[in-house]
Amino acid sequence: MLRTARTQYSISITEDGHDVVLDHWGVPLGDAPAYSQLERIISHVTEPDVLPVEFASAGRRHTAFSELLVERADGGTGALWTFDPGPRVTSGGDGDELLLTAVDETGSLRLELRYRTSTAHDVVTRSATVVNDGTAIVTLPRAFSAGWNLPIGQRARVDYLAGSWAREFQRRSLDLEWGTFSIGGRDGITGLRFSPVVAVTGLDDGEHAPASDRPAYGIALAWSGSWRMSLDAPPVGEHIRVSCGVDDDTTTITLLPGESFSTPESLGVHSSEGAAELPALWHEYQRTLRREIARPVVYNSWMGTEFDVNVEQQVELARLAAGLGVETFVVDDGWFLGRTSDRDGLGDWTPDPQKFPNGLAELADIVEELGMSFGLWVEPEGVSPTSRLFAEHPDWIHRADGRPLLTVRNQYVLDFGRAEVVEWAEQMLRDVLGSARIHYLKWDMNRTVSDGGRAGDPHGREWAVQHARGYHRVMEMLRREFPDVVVEACSSGGGRVDAAVLARADVVWPSDQVGAPDRLIIQDGYLRAYPAWAMSSWVTDDPGHRDRRTVTLGYRFAVAMTGVLGIGSDLTAWTETERADAARMTAFYKDIRRIVQDGTVRTTGAPERNLYTVTFRGPKQDPRAVVFVFDGDRDRSRDRELPRVHPDGLDPDVTYLVEQTGERVTAASAAALGVRAPFTWAPDAEVLVLRPIG
Ligand code: DGJ
Repeated sequence: MLRTARTQYSISITEDGHDVVLDHWGVPLGDAPAYSQLERIISHVTEPDVLPVEFASAGRRHTAFSELLVERADGGTGALWTFDPGPRVTSGGDGDELLLTAVDETGSLRLELRYRTSTAHDVVTRSATVVNDGTAIVTLPRAFSAGWNLPIGQRARVDYLAGSWAREFQRRSLDLEWGTFSIGGRDGITGLRFSPVVAVTGLDDGEHAPASDRPAYGIALAWSGSWRMSLDAPPVGEHIRVSCGVDDDTTTITLLPGESFSTPESLGVHSSEGAAELPALWHEYQRTLRREIARPVVYNSWMGTEFDVNVEQQVELARLAAGLGVETFVVDDGWFLGRTSDRDGLGDWTPDPQKFPNGLAELADIVEELGMSFGLWVEPEGVSPTSRLFAEHPDWIHRADGRPLLTVRNQYVLDFGRAEVVEWAEQMLRDVLGSARIHYLKWDMNRTVSDGGRAGDPHGREWAVQHARGYHRVMEMLRREFPDVVVEACSSGGGRVDAAVLARADVVWPSDQVGAPDRLIIQDGYLRAYPAWAMSSWVTDDPGHRDRRTVTLGYRFAVAMTGVLGIGSDLTAWTETERADAARMTAFYKDIRRIVQDGTVRTTGAPERNLYTVTFRGPKQDPRAVVFVFDGDRDRSRDRELPRVHPDGLDPDVTYLVEQTGERVTAASAAALGVRAPFTWAPDAEVLVLRPIG
């Protein structure tokens, strides 16, 4: 039995020793009858096909999904494991760990299943290792991380996040009954299309919507490479299974004698109060991954200047940004040799002498004199066909078995599966970061790795795994060697947002969509699975392009303030009044940002519709609450009736005073009667600060 903060996760080895099965996952039940032992009628089906097997191997299961596919040199397939009966849970002060080991019937393969829990949160972390102890090559066409058994019957509501460039994290759901639903990405990165996380709630027969008191489960994969998650609702058995791991379509693992493969970690969390509670449980866990480093208010010049950067213009922007209260000034793409468009320059990471004749240090020093820190954009994995780097190392890029090269956004991708490439990237970053006083690094990655492969290399079909591991390794180097540098993860927007990135980056850029109403929809989806403390969000203006609907500057600030505030506009185009308003709102954000970044978040309504609220309840150190209200469709100046909103997430034991209106509210009164939103912040957005008074 493993303990989490509020739940119990119990497993056992079957009597024959061949499988590990789930006994209970949910509210603590102590020694109540185990789920796997409950009487069941099994007719025309083998037992392993219906048992809640934790990590199934083909050869043992015949009709149900298996996490592991094994192929041996002699043509044999599958594995029959015998688990060591003596596993022990090791309990530390703040959690439990369990290692289960098994050997297959030939004695040449070993399996290790790892479980980890903490009493600080409710997430169960699982992974597997397969070891080749034999003398022949073994291949694994599928080596998933875990199979999760959700004891909720045969029908479920599945909530997931999907989208595309500038439209990431759209919330979608489906009812799964007797079938399979699979999401994933084969891009070599986490991807823009699907997020590796689902919320699953049981639907009893006849129910159409999951009730809030129905158990819900969240499953995620902590992985930044190609991946797949498969949800199976079989017409036999009493549970839905979720299996996930590195993509089994493009990846085959090869184990030479003596080699082993360890999977990425998969995460599972249980809520006894429905899927609406899962975001808070994920955020609670993710807080344990983060580094305690200040996440600054950033100015980023990308939307203002794109590739057309130079030192004079950046200095002008920096002066204006400093006047707004910006803390870090970041030069985005375009600063390095030959980079005038997305066609050239990637790989040649020295400042373009025409744009920065005295290097980056000159600008970094001016930025520091202005009271800000300096930051820079890089794309270490990208390489332009015209670059010097590519001319010198044409063999360093991903290339599918010698086939014609493919460019996406006019670039190739360096193969981070090669040790020499990773070493080059590490040294390049050391050189860049050592060349000026740089305290912020935005790591971007602007294309899919759709053409990997290495013919002749026994591990050539693991390129996507190796690339992601190379990326993680360099990110870890940054954290180790440059602890004062805040690192932002980006991939054409939200293509690299996952739990493994959250353990290595300080902030993430969720989308290139900066039109505030559309961005709000993206952020609403993002917050279902990922935390506000990492959600970089800029105030910009891009009329007609991304800003499809006109909203006020106040609305745009409010959207960005629900995460880590940044500003990305061409500040030279702002009026004095706009700059003064921006400075006031930036100062306001600094006052409440601990509540946003260290608190808990709840939403009500839908961002597409009136009225949508995002409520943050502060931590012990600052127990205030902040309610953001968005109303993009109505013109409040013509509306005399002041609307009331029903924010969720206030402390039920506290009475609050709304600073803007003087109204007294409690969690119960907010739910029943609502809170007055006079829209004094802006005609289309309100920000209310609620101070505890008893
Ligand atoms: C994609 C990123 O998402 C943008 O913010 C910007 O950095 C561009 N790349 C630069 O090429």
